[in-house]
Amino acid sequence: MQLLRLPKTSDHFGRYYTAQEIAGLLIQTMSLEKPKTVIDLGVGDGALIREASLIWSDARFITVDIDKNTKHRLPLHISPSLLEHHVGDALEYALDKKLGVSFGTIDSAVCNPPYLRPKWRKHFNSILEEANLHSILPKFGCIPAEVLFIAQNLRLLKVGGKLGLIIPDGIIAGEKFATLRQALATTHRIERIIELPRRIFRNTDAKAHIMVLSKNISADETIQIQQLLPDGQLSSAILLPTEKASSRLDYSYLATNKSTRDKSDGLKLRDITLALKRGTFSSAERKTNELNILHTTDFTSDRLTVPKKFSSKRTLVKDAKFVVAQNGDILIARVGRNFNEKIWRVTSGPTIITDCILLLRVHPTYADRVFNYLTSSIGRSNLMSIAHGVGARFITTEGLLDLKI
Ligand SMILES: C[S@@+](CC[C@H](N)C(=O)[O-])C[C@H]1O[C@@H](n2cnc3c(N)ncnc32)[C@H](O)[C@@H]1O
Repeated sequence: MQLLRLPKTSDHFGRYYTAQEIAGLLIQTMSLEKPKTVIDLGVGDGALIREASLIWSDARFITVDIDKNTKHRLPLHISPSLLEHHVGDALEYALDKKLGVSFGTIDSAVCNPPYLRPKWRKHFNSILEEANLHSILPKFGCIPAEVLFIAQNLRLLKVGGKLGLIIPDGIIAGEKFATLRQALATTHRIERIIELPRRIFRNTDAKAHIMVLSKNISADETIQIQQLLPDGQLSSAILLPTEKASSRLDYSYLATNKSTRDKSDGLKLRDITLALKRGTFSSAERKTNELNILHTTDFTSDRLTVPKKFSSKRTLVKDAKFVVAQNGDILIARVGRNFNEKIWRVTSGPTIITDCILLLRVHPTYADRVFNYLTSSIGRSNLMSIAHGVGARFITTEGLLDLKI
């Protein structure tokens, strides 16, 4: 199967467009015979229902989009008697009334939600509560639209109803979403996850996954996790025990970690780290500050140590209130497209860094082993596998500490 690349990036409605083959894969992965009704909240141009209607030809489609123009772009081959489109906000509390259906009655839903942070509205609490997802609330200041769209779909579905999603990497792999993953896997059931190749959406570096959920069905013992390979085939499956659902669920992380685990003696960076800190100054502050501050843009690929020109006089940094790296420390860019290529060791004196760089100080016995590992091709690829982010990638200190060296 060749993957399509469609010509858009995210716009102000939070849209990425779903390649037709990915939509087809999502529908097949749901393994549903003949659903009566299919809901698509945030239908856009109808990429998902276009494929769904080819397989579920008798189903009735109920679609919603806030953008009034989408109506004119919906698939023409679906008979008007089977397609009911609503222009409006899918995050309204009384969505059932708007759609003319009762909550808890729909047998299937597909959704590629917008990637947005909507302004908090009081009724979002109730939406999460009625979807049995209220346990995630304390974790968030503001809830991303993807989570609210999942919750609205779950409210509409009947017990055992299926939801096929295309969701961003953050939900599958982000630490912040651990309680959501836990709730989805235990209150509901995560049937399958398929990691999609990066840049499946042209002009974006967004990484996304297919996830199929069943509403309120007792959990299976394992979650089946796969990856869509560049040649269009599915990888073999990793069967992750459901009690580990709060950990990362992205295939490339699980697969890389497993192969490293198989080879290493199980030593984690966490076990030997003496200090792991972000620099103090922002990149903007560096421009106006007289101090000599190293930033990610200063890294070059022709060396592995910090050049002398970035070191500061010891007298200048003595008793400093800001973070200063010392000889032996390892500096790692924590953000950016090629962050894993920006790893230097400090060898020529105190170095002041921006907050885009992490200072890693490990027990001296392990200093060479850690540096050699991080700058090896397996180390750099493991760093990439713990990265998060739609677009620009970043790593967290927790992710780094969990690396097995
Ligand atoms: C990521 S796009 C997905 C489009 C289409 N389903 C696809 O897969 O190509 C998300 C869609 O959600 C719509 N949207 C954004 N906020 C919305 C809201 N509050 N209610 C309904 N639709 C919304 C956008 O207009 C956009 O069409």
